Amino acid sequence: MAGVVITGLQWGDEGKGKITDYLSNYFDCIVRYQGGDNAGHTVVIKNKKYKLHLVPSGVLQNKKVVIGNGVVVNPSVLLDEIKMLSENGINPDLMVSDRAHVIMEYHRILDGIEEEMLGKKKIGTTKRGIGPCYTDKVSRYGIRIGDIIDEENLREKLDRIIPVKQKIFDAYGIGKINVEKIFEEYISYGEKLRKYVGDTIYYLNSIIDEKEVLFEGAQGILLDIDYGTYPYTTSSNPVSGGVCTGAGISPKKIKKSIGIAKAYTTRVGMGAMPTEEKGKIGDFLAEKGNEYGTTTGRKRRCGWLDLVALKYSCMVSGIDEVALTKVDVLDGLKEVKVCTGYEVDGEIIDRFPSSLKTLEKCKPVYESMEGWDRARGKKRYEELPLNARKYVDYISDWLKIPVTIISTGMERNETIILET
Ligand code: IMP
Repeated sequence: MAGVVITGLQWGDEGKGKITDYLSNYFDCIVRYQGGDNAGHTVVIKNKKYKLHLVPSGVLQNKKVVIGNGVVVNPSVLLDEIKMLSENGINPDLMVSDRAHVIMEYHRILDGIEEEMLGKKKIGTTKRGIGPCYTDKVSRYGIRIGDIIDEENLREKLDRIIPVKQKIFDAYGIGKINVEKIFEEYISYGEKLRKYVGDTIYYLNSIIDEKEVLFEGAQGILLDIDYGTYPYTTSSNPVSGGVCTGAGISPKKIKKSIGIAKAYTTRVGMGAMPTEEKGKIGDFLAEKGNEYGTTTGRKRRCGWLDLVALKYSCMVSGIDEVALTKVDVLDGLKEVKVCTGYEVDGEIIDRFPSSLKTLEKCKPVYESMEGWDRARGKKRYEELPLNARKYVDYISDWLKIPVTIISTGMERNETIILET
């Protein structure tokens, strides 16, 4: 046995929460390996909506869940989530990496201020302190979960880091950092989290050969710091390879890579999106698909499915199978389009450009297909309207990758599984 990794193939919000929850049934342990509470997974079970930001969705199937070393953890958000789960009768069997970095209050403050300073050129972050926390990790100014369960360590780290942060705060005119308050607050979080903290790297390597382990990516490949639309990206590596650095697992232990794609495209925040539809179609998708962020409530930008971007994501994440979500949202449209190329400066290209300037100039080349009605809630492929089946088949032929899961509604059982 070995690991399976799930990654979002677009700009996040592909419905990974639902698919992970669905697949969790077949796994013993579910692991997050990057990102933080910028992620928002909505899972609906028997009409009850659960919103998870940090704890892997598999917790709702009462599975062992792990927050790996590559995740950035806001302890206050994590404790709230644990509380919400226990109020709903779920006591998470959770292990949090002692190496995971902690999002401090000053990270959140800096995220807000730096965005404000960028004005119209801002990234449109979730303001959860994700970028500043990863920046500190790489600059070696970070505080790790292991530090907040050890008073002496935290004291030492704060003494080293806060004078540097204070200089930045002074330059921004934010005010004095209260070190004692930070110390007390984070030691108290550490006390509450202590029982969950452990060396997840040894733990995961001890089970990976005997148990089924699912690695749950957050955000999407097009938001990846290396492969995404930089600088309009997040600060981590959602790509499947992120499992190696974010969970301490060798690439030899990953047996399958599953990509999640929405049947159309959405994006939150700024940055180029070639297939964005600003008119009626965009509004239709946003309303019908309830395209409002789980984390920030922001309305998502919507447009047609971009197969050029999707193929690129499948390539960098080594996708073996695709799960196609929200096919039912397209119900009722007379015509459905997919982008199969970009026109740039009079030339047609089929590659996702690395330059943002080029991507901004890309005009989508569309293939038009007949629409359908009543895909909603279907549980078998044969029950899907013919044109919806043609749409799914077109995508898998184009990508040369099988679509093995089709989601037709929010509920766990509104899912079609295809044999490969
Ligand atoms: P950050 O991750 O908060 O720094 O935000 C950077 C960019 O990633 C912004 O455009 C966010 O809207 C986007 N982003 C971050 N997390 C998610 C997510 O879970 N879904 C969709 N977009 C996200």
